[in-house]
Amino acid sequence: MRASILGFVFALLLLLREPGCHGDEVTSSTVNPCCYFPCQHWGVCVRTTQEEYECDCTRTGYYGENCTIPEFLIRVRYFLKPGPNVVHYILTHFHWLWDIVNSTFLRESLMRLVLTVRSNLIPNPPTFNSKYGYLNWESYYNLTYYTRILPPVPEDCPSPVGAKGRAVLPDPEVVVERLLKRRTFRPDPQGSNLMFAFFAQHFTHQFFKTYNRMGVGFTKALSHGVDAGHIYGDNLERQLALRLLKDGKLKYQVIDGEVFPPSVVDAPVYMSYPPGVPAERQMAIGQEVFGLLPGLGLYATLWLREHNRICDILRAEHPVWDDEQLFQTARLIVIGETIRIVIEEYVQHLSGYLLNLKFDPTLLFNSQFQYGNRIALEFSQLYHWHPLMPDSFHINGDELSYKHFLFNTSILTHYGVEKLVDSFSRQVAGQIGGGHNINTVVTHVAVGTIKESRQLRIQPFNEYRKRFNLEPYASFRDFSDNEEIAQTLEELYGDIDALEFYPGLMLERTRPESIFGESMVEMGAPFSLKGLLGNPICSPDYWKPSTFGGKVGFDIVNTASLKKLVCLNSRTCPYVSFRVPAEEKSQPGKECPDEL
Ligand code: HEM
Ligand SMILES: *[C@@H]1O[C@H](CO)[C@@H](O)[C@H](O)[C@H]1NC(C)=O
Ligand SMILES: *[C@@H]1O[C@H](CO)[C@@H](O)[C@H](O)[C@H]1NC(C)=O
Ligand SMILES: *[C@@H]1O[C@H](CO)[C@@H](O)[C@H](O)[C@H]1NC(C)=O
Ligand SMILES: *[C@@H]1O[C@H](CO)[C@@H](O)[C@H](O)[C@H]1NC(C)=O
Repeated sequence: MRASILGFVFALLLLLREPGCHGDEVTSSTVNPCCYFPCQHWGVCVRTTQEEYECDCTRTGYYGENCTIPEFLIRVRYFLKPGPNVVHYILTHFHWLWDIVNSTFLRESLMRLVLTVRSNLIPNPPTFNSKYGYLNWESYYNLTYYTRILPPVPEDCPSPVGAKGRAVLPDPEVVVERLLKRRTFRPDPQGSNLMFAFFAQHFTHQFFKTYNRMGVGFTKALSHGVDAGHIYGDNLERQLALRLLKDGKLKYQVIDGEVFPPSVVDAPVYMSYPPGVPAERQMAIGQEVFGLLPGLGLYATLWLREHNRICDILRAEHPVWDDEQLFQTARLIVIGETIRIVIEEYVQHLSGYLLNLKFDPTLLFNSQFQYGNRIALEFSQLYHWHPLMPDSFHINGDELSYKHFLFNTSILTHYGVEKLVDSFSRQVAGQIGGGHNINTVVTHVAVGTIKESRQLRIQPFNEYRKRFNLEPYASFRDFSDNEEIAQTLEELYGDIDALEFYPGLMLERTRPESIFGESMVEMGAPFSLKGLLGNPICSPDYWKPSTFGGKVGFDIVNTASLKKLVCLNSRTCPYVSFRVPAEEKSQPGKECPDEL
């Protein structure tokens, strides 16, 4: 009986998901017809005359004026395919099933399926950007732009979200005040902790670096992916200022016998601090905004120590290598370690999947998978996970308010790596979805996110639901199980098809006992996995021992973990995890575990 369920589940998962069928809309004769998003199922809306348009349905599996009529095979597949909530339920239940799957070839098969199904939702080469809603060379070639999955809402539409809903969109301040601002702290039911929250922020800020001086929609992180630019800087000049230029290492300073990032006096790079913070107290870090939070300084310290530790290992293996080769190879190892920790621990935790996720680039060597990545504006909007932040920070028995925590240059050295890791690993983070959970200190960021979305004319939430093969919501009550939220949204937006992208992600009903709802997972996972596996080190010509300085270096990549990152770079081994400890387990292990 178990074997047959197993086979059934496998068959279910194998059926690639296809878009559902969506209703037609009424157009008015004076409005650009594309403002109503008439083309379904990834069809492209091309305007012809004032009142006319055409849908290009090529390779969508559908035909007809609005790409709504399915071809026969699509009809069969659509009938058979399980919805994302069914797949999610299976992936997060039936322990006995996954106990079997985890230890057989099915783990690899399912992992390959997860990677390909998710990645196929992301176009490669990239398509639109905030200036161009049609394909063109500039949009492909100019890396200064974030890419866009869906084209911007045309400028001549009645509203920044098209043509539906109220004539005027609600004031972003009002949306945040009434729906997103925290009332009382609501912990994440999945038990994510601050170690997780700061990892999320630290990791993503290597590729989310909005270039405010250029304007919204532009990025400073031109490699568009996991390049460890938050450790080494996003340009060569900064990198050279941060490097010791000896043995491949990064500059550092020693405080009370412990290694920390150097001061800006010794590594002259720009760091973003409030006026009045003296240069001696500013730490020089790859990412210029990481002085903001001791949690970011903590990860910067860990990765700096790790980089220099790897350099020692590489130099012992290759006494003839010069500084440059040691540095460059250590950087690739750091990138590899990062990707492994993100997939096998961070995404594993976040997904709640019982399938044991595996970082193994060889899984894709026989698939049609394109290497390369371009960071999307939608991905940056989606990742504004500020509800994770608590109301205050509990460190080693002290309670610190935001006023004392933000930009405080002494916390990192005062407590040291071990105590911060232990404290951050024990303090629960906030639930991201479900509304009413952003601390007032950061509500202004949410306001800015909504303003940016309007200025850059990001399509409404339901259009993204369709783009990621999800059914659009039919009403606000369908969208949320919270009557107050549904009612307020109805009042503010008037039409579910006018609901904006970011508020939609933050306010959608959460899955049971989960950190957020269906859309965050179904839209976030494709961006994330494409970005991780699309990295050049995952391609066949790179993914081999010699790239990482031989077997020793390759082994470091293949066995990396959060625990090792901390415990191989600290004196004692604190409690370290992306999850708060289970209630019963009270005492942290104070010694380094055997496997280290
Ligand atoms: C107390 C903690 C935090 C503070 C004070 C803070 C503050 C800010 C500020 C001021 C911005 C820039 C907004 C703008 O320029 O319009 C920002 C952007 C952002 N934040 Fe946070 N943040 C915090 C925690 C987090 C966390 C935990 C995450 C989780 C991933 C996060 C994700 C982001 C993202 C993705 C952006 C956009 C970055 C970009 O496009 O350059 N933040 N945050
Ligand atoms: C296509 O969509 C337009 C605009 O939404 C609508 O007026 C028209 O009736 C639709 N055509 C078909 C064949 O459904
Ligand atoms: C990219 O586009 C921006 C805005 O049009 C322009 O200022 C910049 O010079 C372009 N960059 C390159 C490399 O062409
Ligand atoms: C299978 O993997 C999941 C996720 O890593 C884990 O929670 C579960 O305990 C594993 N089962 C076995 C038997 O390893
Ligand atoms: C910074 O943190 C230290 C140690 O917790 C604290 O004593 C100090 O008051 C803080 N500084 C500021 C400016 O808040």
